[in-house]
Amino acid sequence: MRHVEPPEAVRWAADGSGVDIIDQTLLPESERRITLGTADSVVEAIRSMRVRGAPAIGIAAAMGLVVEMSRHVADPPEAFAGRLRQAAAALRRARPTAVNLAWAVDRTAAAVADVEDNAAAVRAMREEATRILTEDREMCRRIGEAALELVPEDAGILTHCNAGALATGGIGTALAPVYIAASRGRTARVFACETRPLLQGSRLTAWELERAGVDVTVIPDSVAGTLMAGGRIDLVIVGADRIAANGDVANKIGTYGLAVLAAHHDVPFYVAAPTSTLDPATATGADIIIEVRDADEVRRGFGRLTAPADVAVFSPAFDITPASLITAIITERGIHRPSDRSGTGFDFREGTVPHRVAERCTATGQTK
Ligand code: MRU
Repeated sequence: MRHVEPPEAVRWAADGSGVDIIDQTLLPESERRITLGTADSVVEAIRSMRVRGAPAIGIAAAMGLVVEMSRHVADPPEAFAGRLRQAAAALRRARPTAVNLAWAVDRTAAAVADVEDNAAAVRAMREEATRILTEDREMCRRIGEAALELVPEDAGILTHCNAGALATGGIGTALAPVYIAASRGRTARVFACETRPLLQGSRLTAWELERAGVDVTVIPDSVAGTLMAGGRIDLVIVGADRIAANGDVANKIGTYGLAVLAAHHDVPFYVAAPTSTLDPATATGADIIIEVRDADEVRRGFGRLTAPADVAVFSPAFDITPASLITAIITERGIHRPSDRSGTGFDFREGTVPHRVAERCTATGQTK
């Protein structure tokens, strides 16, 4: 391993007055950190994907709310409350699909209940946002520990988009077992789908894994079937932006196609996500709002004309993988397999963690 410490996608600025992120739009050409000092600048950073990945945008938004409100400490209480509502709404709306975003903003805003004054409100929100970050770091580690038993030595692992350190407050979700395996001297061969059109796989996953000394190969998205047909993939593991109550998963566009290919080739298909990505209020994947991105991300890929200038484009950022195609979902609580034989749903309650995993987790204090 060249770098033992994975990159920190989001953290407080040294003096606490801003949100310090790696500007992911610049990777892998340059690794540059920027500091965001207002809610508006955090909204812009989330929309333009300077910070991205479901847990990371939640953490950035939570911190963004804090830095915004710390600029309004001297406001009269009603004006302070009004600005808090506005800023929280704007941050929540920045992107629609990842449930972690609204979850983290709501949790941070709720911390102001029962405080005496504006200063105490900001302190309470800062503590909550910091807790969200540290809990996410811990959830990533637990996901990695739980998923490790699904990853054989020297496995060929296919992943899509970036569900690594850059997408979270810790070592990632889908990439967490890879980092843990590597830190224990085990080998794994990761195939990273480049992930059209914004190339999170080739720009971000390949960057962070190569930096960590993990064996990673970038493939054009269309190569996945060829690799599976050739027997070179032992498992697929991806992250999630929102998981409906029945286990349907919203994740980066192209995930659904990989799940169909995996089923055809009898390759296990795993989803790794913290419980902050579960959305019990959404019954099935059909109820999840899918963000549609700007046509120019396809027509002018990274500044060059990559399609006729005015051609019609349809560019949803995410798709829905039905629960029936998912072998297991790994959360920080353990490994969740479909709760019935027809494989149409998941049950995320504590008791549904298979006994073997539950015993091991309880023994090491890993279940919540
Ligand atoms: O559009 P992005 O890059 O934010 O999409 C990210 C993904 O689809 C990730 O797989 C998901 O957010 C999980 S990150 C742990």
